[in-house]
Amino acid sequence: PGGKGSNALPFTAIAPVDALVDDMTVPQGYGWKPVIRWGDPIFRTSPAFDANKQTAAAQALQFGYNCDYTDVLEIEGSKGRRAVLFANHEYTNENIMVPPTTPAAEVRGIGKAAHGLSVVELERKNRNKPWSYVQGAPLNRRYLTTTAYEVTGPAAGSDLLRTKDDPAGRSILGTLGNCAGGTTPWGTILSGEENFNGYFVAAGTSDGDRRYGITSKPTARGWEIDEPRFDTRNAGYENEKHRFGYIVEVDPFDPASTPRKHSALGRFKHEGANVTVAADGRVVAYMGDDERFDYLYKFVSTKKVQPGSSPAARRANMTLLSEGSLYVARFQGNSVAEIDGTGTLPTDGAFDGVGEWLPLLVDNKSVVAGMTAAEVCVFTRIAADRMGATKMDRCEDVEPNPRTGKVYVACTNNTNRGVGSSAVADEANPRTQNRDGHVVELTEAGGNATGTRFTWNLLLVCGDPARNPSTYFAGYPTDKVSPISCPDNVAFDSAGNLWISTDGQPGTVGFADGLFKVGLEGAERGRVQQFLAVPRDAETCGPIIHDQDGTVFVAVQHPGEDGDWAEQASLFPDYVPLGGAPRRGEAALPRPSVVQVYRASEGRR
Ligand code: FEO
Ligand code: CA
Ligand code: CA
Ligand code: CA
Repeated sequence: PGGKGSNALPFTAIAPVDALVDDMTVPQGYGWKPVIRWGDPIFRTSPAFDANKQTAAAQALQFGYNCDYTDVLEIEGSKGRRAVLFANHEYTNENIMVPPTTPAAEVRGIGKAAHGLSVVELERKNRNKPWSYVQGAPLNRRYLTTTAYEVTGPAAGSDLLRTKDDPAGRSILGTLGNCAGGTTPWGTILSGEENFNGYFVAAGTSDGDRRYGITSKPTARGWEIDEPRFDTRNAGYENEKHRFGYIVEVDPFDPASTPRKHSALGRFKHEGANVTVAADGRVVAYMGDDERFDYLYKFVSTKKVQPGSSPAARRANMTLLSEGSLYVARFQGNSVAEIDGTGTLPTDGAFDGVGEWLPLLVDNKSVVAGMTAAEVCVFTRIAADRMGATKMDRCEDVEPNPRTGKVYVACTNNTNRGVGSSAVADEANPRTQNRDGHVVELTEAGGNATGTRFTWNLLLVCGDPARNPSTYFAGYPTDKVSPISCPDNVAFDSAGNLWISTDGQPGTVGFADGLFKVGLEGAERGRVQQFLAVPRDAETCGPIIHDQDGTVFVAVQHPGEDGDWAEQASLFPDYVPLGGAPRRGEAALPRPSVVQVYRASEGRR
C-alpha cells in the first residue's frame, strides 16, 4: 500500500467543523467548485433556473435534487477530456425549494420531477483542469417518474407485480428514493431504491405492509392526489407498492436504453449494490438494507462475466443480475466478553468472529419453505426473517475493496439497539443505543466471493474519542484520529485506502458531516483523517476518489434542509446573501450539487 495513488492526493487532515458553519471546508492546498447544481439546465431546450419561478415543466428538463450516488466515467477515446456523470436524486425538500406562494399542485409536480436519475456529459481541457458539464450533450438524460423500467428475475410477470396499467407485470414507471449505488465492471450503474415506502398509501394491515413500513396515512408529498397508483387501496393498483424497493441498472452510455429493476437482488430498503468479479468469473453484488435491525445481503450470478467492452460482451453482462442466488448474512461472535459499548474490548481483544451466507434463492429458485421465488423477491425481508439472519445496525453502503476483496459494511447507527424489547447488543453490533455507528470488515473464506462462509471483525467503532470511551479505531492511537460518526457511503482510492462519508454527525458529535480517509494496512490501519466538511444541514454523499487526477467528487445532499423559504439555513454553493442581487445563474437559496475538490497547487482555478 501507499504507491502513486495516495501520493497524488496528499493532505493534512482538516479540524472538525462546527455543525452550524455554512461552508465547504477542504484541506489546505485544495480548491472546490460545483460541477452541476440542482436546477441547472441539461438539454438544449431547458430553461435557465429561476429560483422564484420554478415549474414542474422546467424541472423535468433540469438537474434534479439531493444527489446520493454519483460516478464520473471517462468516455473511451476522449483522452481524458470527456466523461459522463451519473447522479441519482433521492428526495426533495419542498420547504426550501419554492416560494410558499407556489400552488400546491405545482409544488407536487416540481418535487416529482426533481426525483429520479440524471446522466450528464462533462468536459475539461486536460487532466489538470476542473470538469464542466455540457448542456445539450448527446448522452444527457433525465429519468423521471414517467420513465419505464423493465423488470427482470423471478418477480417479472408474477401476480405480485401486475397492475391496471401493467397487466403483464413487467414494466414499471419511475424509480424512487434512490440512495447509494455502484458502478459495474461492464460500465453500467446500479442504484438502490431505499425509502420507497413513504411514497405509498396502503391499508397498512398486511404482513408485507407492516414489514416494509407502508401505512394508511397520507404521504408527505401527496402524489396520490394526482396519480391513483400511489394509493394502493385503489382498485387495480394494489400491487404498485411491490414495484419499488429494487436495485435498478442503467446504461449511461446509451440514452435510448431501457433501464431495469432486478428482482433477483431482492426487495427491501436497498441502500445500494457493489459488484465484484469472483475468481471463477461469476459476479457478486453486496447489498445493505438500511433499516434498524435489518440485514446484509449478497447476490451471486449464475452466469459468468464476458471479458472486454465489445457491444456483445456488454449486452451479455447486462443480463448477469437477472439470474442467480440471493443470500443473507448471519454473524457469530467468538468471545464472551462485555461488548456493551462502554469501552471494554472483548476478551480476545477484538470484535470479531465467523459468519455464514444463508441462501434465499439458488439460481432463481426459492429455498425458503412456503415461499415461491417471486415471493422471496418481493417479500425478501420476510424470507430473511425465516432463515434467522443477524439484525444489523442499519447497513448502508457495502463495498468490496478492489485491492484485497475484503468487504466493508457501514453500519450507520441504531439508537434502538437494546431498548425495550428490541434485539440486544452482540459482537457484530456491540453497542446498546448505538448513536455513532461502526464499520464491519468482512473476509470471504478462502478469498472466494461466491462461497457461504466468512470471517469478520470491526474496523471502527465510531464516535469522538475525546468524549466517548467506547470508540475503537483498529488499535490506532485515538488521540491521533479525526472524530467520525454515522458512516454512510464508502469508496476506495487507487492505493486501496477506504474513504467514508458521513450522514448525521451534527446530531451526535456536533460537527458538520464530512469525508474521511481511513488506512487499512500496516501502521496506517485505523488512522482516520478528515478530508472535507460540508455546509450546514448537509450530508456528504457519493464520494469518488480520482486520486491519480488529484480530484475528489462528493454530492452535497440537503444543504439547509432545516430552514425555510424566508430563512434559508444555507446558501451553498452560490452564497448570494438573502435579499442580495444574484448574478445571472445564481440564487439566494441552497442548491444540492455535485462538487469537485482539486489540488489548487496544480495551477487550477
Ligand atoms: Fe439514503 Fe441509507 O441513506
Ligand atoms: Ca472477538
Ligand atoms: Ca446512504
Ligand atoms: Ca443518507
